[in-house]
Amino acid sequence: PLVSTKEMLLKASKGNYAVAAFNVENMEMVQAVIEAAEELNAPVILQTTPSTVKYGGITMYRSMVNAIAQVARVPVAMHLDHGDSPQLCKEAIEGKYTSVMIDGSKLSFEENIQVSKLVVEMAKDLSISIEAELGTVGGKEDGHIVTEKEALYTNPAQAREFVEKTNVNSLAIAIGTAHGFYKGEPKIDFERLSEIKEIVEIPLVLHGASGLPDTTVIKAIELGICKVNFATELRAAYTKGVRKILDSDVDVFDPKKYGTAGRTEVKELVKHKITICKSVGKA
Ligand code: 13P
Ligand code: ZN
Ligand code: NA
Repeated sequence: PLVSTKEMLLKASKGNYAVAAFNVENMEMVQAVIEAAEELNAPVILQTTPSTVKYGGITMYRSMVNAIAQVARVPVAMHLDHGDSPQLCKEAIEGKYTSVMIDGSKLSFEENIQVSKLVVEMAKDLSISIEAELGTVGGKEDGHIVTEKEALYTNPAQAREFVEKTNVNSLAIAIGTAHGFYKGEPKIDFERLSEIKEIVEIPLVLHGASGLPDTTVIKAIELGICKVNFATELRAAYTKGVRKILDSDVDVFDPKKYGTAGRTEVKELVKHKITICKSVGKA
């Protein structure tokens, strides 16, 4: 069934595991994620970013996920990832996404509070949960000077104030991860994560998980992360599967044939990520 992320994440928070959230671009990726989740009896979140929504449309992704999730044997949530305006969040809410992220992390603290509150207000009385972000997931460079680091990483006291003022359901925090693959080993501020976890009661979200060593993801979950976002690695897996078959056989022209190859690669990857999130059997 299609559910909101609210209960899903609260349950994960109590159970010391994380729900894995996967960015999907097409039907094959949606199918791969749900098939993997069903095989492992795990709750799962499918999500689309603004650029993905622009590519296929809210209604298209929502309908596709709905068609598959309705008959799925595990709880599935449909989430707008990095919603960059209240307007897009509104469209996702009206389009019956079950979960929405408003990303005001590039704004000032006060403006971020304002815009996040606005979206929480939109979802009021609906069973839609709202994720917000404080701090910047990016990590373009290592070795920032302290002041820069403080501006980039989530400040624990600010996180508490932010949650109290906005009433968001979950919070994405910046502890040194970055979107995409990493050049060299990422330095994750686990101490900061523990400090945030101690004073913030709502579920915490880790972005940028592609390219992180499994041990890093596992440790972050042990310290309190209960939603982990994976995007780049899924796109890479899909393309790897497609490319392999097209490169090896120039006579292949049926999209079903290479789509199947991409789907198989994504499914294997997703099963591994669900396993490191410790959500196997938690459906
Ligand atoms: P990656 O592309 O590094 O997996 O980041 C995923 C993410 O945070 C999506 O919001
Ligand atoms: Zn992200
Ligand atoms: Na990453």
